[in-house]
Amino acid sequence: MGYESVRGMRDVLPEEARNWTLLENQVRAVARVFNYREIRVPLMEHAELFSRGIGEATDVVNKEMYTFPDKKGRLLTLRPEATASVVRAYIEHGLYTKEPFQKLYYIGPMFRYEKPQKGRSRQFHQYGVEAVGALDPALDVEVISVAWALMNRLGLERLSLRLNSIGCAADHARYREVLRDHFGPHLSQMCPDCRRRYEENPLRILDCKRKTCQPFIESAPGSAEYLCADCAAHFAAVRRYLDRLGLSYDIDPRLVRGLDYYTRTVFELVSADLGAQDALLGGGRYDDLVEQLGGPSTPAVGFAGGMDRLVLVLDELGRFDAANPGIDLFLATLGQDEALALELAAGLRENGVSVDLDYRGRGLRKQLAEANRLGAHHLLVLGEEEAASGRGRLKNMATGEETEVALETDAMLPLLQRRD
Ligand code: HAM
Repeated sequence: MGYESVRGMRDVLPEEARNWTLLENQVRAVARVFNYREIRVPLMEHAELFSRGIGEATDVVNKEMYTFPDKKGRLLTLRPEATASVVRAYIEHGLYTKEPFQKLYYIGPMFRYEKPQKGRSRQFHQYGVEAVGALDPALDVEVISVAWALMNRLGLERLSLRLNSIGCAADHARYREVLRDHFGPHLSQMCPDCRRRYEENPLRILDCKRKTCQPFIESAPGSAEYLCADCAAHFAAVRRYLDRLGLSYDIDPRLVRGLDYYTRTVFELVSADLGAQDALLGGGRYDDLVEQLGGPSTPAVGFAGGMDRLVLVLDELGRFDAANPGIDLFLATLGQDEALALELAAGLRENGVSVDLDYRGRGLRKQLAEANRLGAHHLLVLGEEEAASGRGRLKNMATGEETEVALETDAMLPLLQRRD
């Protein structure tokens, strides 16, 4: 019997992994200029962290979590997102006692039991930022700027930022009643999930993707009409700062997002180059989460983006097409003795030159083909004559030019230096 990877969890083979590394480097570069520090949290948490943090009524908790008992019967969950974990770490390590304001970022796999399709998988990868410890609307705008800065670096266009404010907990309570009044008369025509959501949290109905529910969702009143004075002022400031920075956005009055911890600002960045799964990233404020999970009252804001989708879009737009960087040197060996080749490779590699050998005892013709396949910039053939004389001919593969050189690291290094 052959083995296959688990459905919805795929291998990233070397050709594609190169693209992932490029993308991760861009994320790290943007995090650096905005002064976000990396945090690495475990892939598993106690199930309760997510059910409490994300909310029992959400699809993520209700249907999509990978939860298993461990050997002692404790329920553990493969993380479906990282915000709850970051907040847990912030509280557990008392980060707030040293410095209550923390700007953090992460990159890593997340797990959701969803129906796999293009741009949606069960093990997917997110990069995200969390700015914990300030209520300033300028911080919401900084977090949104991180997203835009990354998109600009990646040269992505045809994007739009959907923005809304869902207000504080008191506003939610008011808005929930408004939504119950609105949806109540139509419930019999709506999907079973929405009937459940109506009881548990009618905000979730606004996230329903079923066709039958759309007419009732489209006519629902927007959340921003029900904000208290503080939340309305916060939202106005966020918009004013975004305008000042020239960051465009569309107000989406019914954007609520799929996780229960959000308060005030919520946003999503969507790409016209993606199909049904068009959200490149999403986030917002979660001013009550730290306290809800047992920490001191601490406002926070963040977002996370799906890397799988980003790689897909960038690949489709040909952004990864730049030529394979290739290796610096291929050492072709003739005969059995590979001591000289190994010694030369070791010395050059120590100095940062990328070198490879055949290792398969193949003839010269096949080794030359291999050098080409690897995109080698230089070739050196080592036979008995070279071993005896200590000199060889270094060939520049692009120009065909050959240079006689002493077979020593110091003599070869200047000739192998990359000019790109
Ligand atoms: P989220 O909207 O659930 O938010 O996920 C953020 C992004 O992750 C989505 O916009 C999408 O790009 C990607 N994503 C989600 N599920 C999948 C999937 N099954 N396959 C591929 N990509 C997926 C959060 O996770 C929040 N923690 C964001 C946040 C951080 N809010 C505040 N801070």
